Amino acid sequence: MQTHALDIQALKRDQAPSAGPAGPAETSLRMENLNLFYNQNSQALFDINLEIPRQRVTAFIGPSGCGKSSLLRCINRMNDLVDGCRVQGRLLLDNEDVYDRRVDVAALRRRVGMVFQKPNPFPKSIYENVAYGLRIQGINKKRVLDEVVEKSLRAAALWDEVKDRLHDSALGMSGGQQQRLVIARTIAVEPEVLLLDEPASALDPISTLKIEELIYEL
Ligand SMILES: Nc1ncnc2c1ncn2[C@@H]1O[C@H](COP(=O)(O)OP(=O)(O)OP(=O)(O)O)[C@@H](O)[C@H]1O
Ligand SMILES: [Mg+2]
Repeated sequence: MQTHALDIQALKRDQAPSAGPAGPAETSLRMENLNLFYNQNSQALFDINLEIPRQRVTAFIGPSGCGKSSLLRCINRMNDLVDGCRVQGRLLLDNEDVYDRRVDVAALRRRVGMVFQKPNPFPKSIYENVAYGLRIQGINKKRVLDEVVEKSLRAAALWDEVKDRLHDSALGMSGGQQQRLVIARTIAVEPEVLLLDEPASALDPISTLKIEELIYEL
């Protein structure tokens, strides 16, 4: 039903008033007539045409069920994991079609990191959660890992709270700390695009503020 189509209001918060619409050089992501179907009769996204500039915070706002998460999941092809889900149209990341058959989806997901509504730390230590992305790339040098873990935890405003318990389980952290840990884990591999799907909706106001500050800093 058309009433459920995503009504996008892209808020380019940090954009200078004089900057105007993003030119091609500034655009990082472009969607052209993007449609998404969950099965034959259920369409969730209707003809989305959108340009998203690089180095900006862009927010999608709309009522529950309008398709915000569906749209985000198109960008790193998380919808590939949903049975029967089909995407039509084009989604270009730096002029390359994310849905091109030659695209290496694992490489795409390294470029496009994602943080979900509910924190999902791995059942590992705080340190190993953040080091995980580097380890799966074959980086195991302690000096390098130590450096990246500290830098990422600092960027996620978590370092001071965890620096003395880096080898404790991540599952013993509070919800807000877990979400900042997941953000640290995501930024440790330096993604070009960071997708945040209501990352603070389950958190208290102080943790929310920390995550908002982190977003502006990034
Ligand atoms: N895995 C799925 N299978 C079938 N339909 C789905 C699936 N995920 C989402 N949908 C449907 O797609 C539409 C958009 O859902 P989506 O989760 O993208 O909305 P949203 O804007 O993120 O909502 P919320 O604010 O509640 O998170 C809804 O009608 C939903 O029922
Ligand atoms: Mg959602």
